[in-house]
Amino acid sequence: MFFKLVIVILVSLAAAEDLNFTYNGFLSANLSLDGVAQVTSNGLLKLTNDTGLGHAFYPNPVTFKNSSTAAAFSFSTTFVFAIRPGLGPRLGGHGIAFVIAPTRGLPGGFQNQYLGVFNETNNGNANNHIFAVELDSFQDPELGDINNNHVGIDINDLRSVNSTPAGYHALNNGGFRNLTLLSGQPMQVWVEYDGIQKQINVTLGPINVDKPHIPLMSLKYDLSTVLNMIMYVGFSSTAGSLVTSHYVLGWSFETNGQAPELVLSQLPKLPRIGGKKISNFLTIGVPVMSVSLVLLAISSLIYAIRRKKKFAELLEDWELEYGPQRFKYKELYMATKGFREKELLGSGGFGKVYKGILPSSKTEIAVKRVSHESRQGMKEFVAEIISIGRLRHRNLVPLLGYCRRKGELLLVYDYMPNGSLDKYLYDQPVVTLNWRQRFRVIKGVASALFYLHEEWEQVVVHRDVKASNILLDSEFNARLGDFGLARLYDHGKDPKTTRIVGTLGYLAPEHARLGRATTHTDVFSFGAFLLEVACGRRPIETQDQDLDVVLVDWVFSCWKRSNILEAIDLNLGSEFVAEEVELVLKLGLLCSHSEPSARPSMRQVVHYLEGDIPLPELSSLGLSSGGLKVAHREGFDDSAMSYPSSMGKEMSYVPESSLLSGGR
Ligand SMILES: *[C@@H]1O[C@H](CO)[C@@H](O)[C@H](O)[C@H]1NC(C)=O
Ligand SMILES: *[C@@H]1O[C@H](CO)[C@@H](O)[C@H](O)[C@H]1NC(C)=O
Ligand SMILES: *[C@@H]1O[C@H](CO)[C@@H](O)[C@H](O)[C@H]1NC(C)=O
Ligand SMILES: *[C@@H]1O[C@H](CO)[C@@H](O)[C@H](O)[C@H]1NC(C)=O
Ligand SMILES: *[C@@H]1O[C@H](CO)[C@@H](O)[C@H](O)[C@H]1NC(C)=O
Ligand SMILES: *[C@@H]1O[C@H](CO)[C@@H](O)[C@H](O)[C@H]1NC(C)=O
Ligand SMILES: *[C@@H]1O[C@H](CO)[C@@H](O)[C@H](O)[C@H]1NC(C)=O
Repeated sequence: MFFKLVIVILVSLAAAEDLNFTYNGFLSANLSLDGVAQVTSNGLLKLTNDTGLGHAFYPNPVTFKNSSTAAAFSFSTTFVFAIRPGLGPRLGGHGIAFVIAPTRGLPGGFQNQYLGVFNETNNGNANNHIFAVELDSFQDPELGDINNNHVGIDINDLRSVNSTPAGYHALNNGGFRNLTLLSGQPMQVWVEYDGIQKQINVTLGPINVDKPHIPLMSLKYDLSTVLNMIMYVGFSSTAGSLVTSHYVLGWSFETNGQAPELVLSQLPKLPRIGGKKISNFLTIGVPVMSVSLVLLAISSLIYAIRRKKKFAELLEDWELEYGPQRFKYKELYMATKGFREKELLGSGGFGKVYKGILPSSKTEIAVKRVSHESRQGMKEFVAEIISIGRLRHRNLVPLLGYCRRKGELLLVYDYMPNGSLDKYLYDQPVVTLNWRQRFRVIKGVASALFYLHEEWEQVVVHRDVKASNILLDSEFNARLGDFGLARLYDHGKDPKTTRIVGTLGYLAPEHARLGRATTHTDVFSFGAFLLEVACGRRPIETQDQDLDVVLVDWVFSCWKRSNILEAIDLNLGSEFVAEEVELVLKLGLLCSHSEPSARPSMRQVVHYLEGDIPLPELSSLGLSSGGLKVAHREGFDDSAMSYPSSMGKEMSYVPESSLLSGGR
């Protein structure tokens, strides 16, 4: 009866001998867990949870030996694991071990370096009856670890019987490839024991390759002395103080046969590396950053385009020779602080003038912005401007250079601190000039015009001599400016409608009639300027709606009455030299002669002013009021004026045939 019972037990044990199980994820598994080990909601076996120690065992006992021969059976197991280091330094908390132990769980195994398998006292003790395969990511020199990334076969002792750096032999003689246990990537392990050959094979491989044909380790060892008849299989792992999580994703086991293959596609997914912090970074940080980067790129592009447009210039091949005279628009923009209103010096003839300081040389400059739509004649004009820039005379405003943009020409002059002469003459000036200063100004302008007409290599016609174009330097020396600009507007597209630009009152009758500027027309303007300076009045002043007072007519009438000094500027008081004033007024009348050839040349003018030769008697020249002919406002077709009020006093008009009869 008793024997019968024993036989029954033996038979039942024998029936349990060929065991196999497969876990593709552990959701439905009834594992025996202890420590911090847990099965996560998606079926991962998480042996450690950043910290601590954990064991997980197959709940049922496994028969490992033939009851009659006491020889260990063959067995085979495979599992997929991953070691995830925390956010700290990648030290990696110890490792993970597959264990065959006499008990379900490892009650005495708790210490870090012993992987939760052994403790200091029992390590190396043959009575342990423990077989383990360690995947160790930490080097414990006291336990003879070869490095911090190795696989070892441990028998009763964590001092491995055999160990080797983690890696695998790639298929088809692909050579040995290292693997990093702490990479966080899942890897597969195969542990196989051949009970007949008494050989243990351990094979490691990345999850995405087939099982390597050559095992990582192969050890001849008879496990019969190590294993008991009944054993438990499972895993052990410690993180210790080194923040690490150890996962097993799937596991299969079989005694006396090949472990069933895992279905890799069914294995649970590992959490994203770095956990929530990273995933927040990925789901919020990365898109926000990408959007910001794109916006940044777009706005920098827009900025660059705007900037390019803002500082765009026109530069054509023919200008290359003028390199030294060309200014960069950006430079002028900086110099004038962006052409801001505060830097505006005036908005007289042809455009606005801004004060500026060149950033490079700290030179004070005046920048004139001349709007100019047509490119016609621009080449000639710039050539002329440049040649004028080479003019050097102490009574000329030095032209430093130019810059050309679309529809705009910028001329750069020396800055004249005392502004233009007209400010000191009419409209109840705050400061006026005394006669000495005025006479000096007159002589200076005469000298400059003489230089332009006769002393330079080419004849230069100024075309717009008038008080507002005379600038005063720091010592109140006259400086003739704005030369040549009238010419820019003078290039008629249609010869029949030649536009004449000049200033009413300064414009010689034949200039208006024939539309051609000559040195004689400059002399005529100079005459008007002389009267202007001596009388402190504009050449034409509108007193009533219809009544224009023409200065030259008035001075002429004073002269007729033999009292030419009556015309003198009352602001001068009695502080003047009568002979000089008389000379200037008479010379003014002389220069205003309607017959160009009757006007003196600038050379003669200079001599008269210097007193080198006496002024001829006006009466002997047959000067009559009929001979003083200025271009009157009436008689011009107002509609033909191309620059009305917005351009100030400058006007252009189509000469009328009625004027032709006005000449002598
Ligand atoms: C696993 O064991 C069962 C009996 O428990 C058996 O029917 C099955 O064929 C075994 N599978 C493998 C792959 O050995
Ligand atoms: C361990 O896991 C649990 C649940 O997943 C969590 O609440 C706990 O904070 C974790 N402990 C550590 C130390 O990470
Ligand atoms: C789980 O295993 C334990 C032994 O570890 C056993 O008592 C229990 O009945 C098992 N439960 C299931 C559902 O298999
Ligand atoms: C145990 O060994 C004996 C003798 O070699 C053999 O006949 C028997 O089949 C073995 N039992 C198992 C379960 O392998
Ligand atoms: C070590 O483990 C053995 C076996 O589990 C146990 O008997 C012993 O008390 C443990 N030693 C220490 C110091 O914990
Ligand atoms: C593999 O690792 C060993 C040390 O473990 C190292 O000496 C060898 O250079 C590594 N090989 C490659 C290809 O990284
Ligand atoms: C172990 O590996 C060796 C060498 O590759 C091989 O000959 C043997 O069949 C393997 N044994 C098992 C049980 O896989």
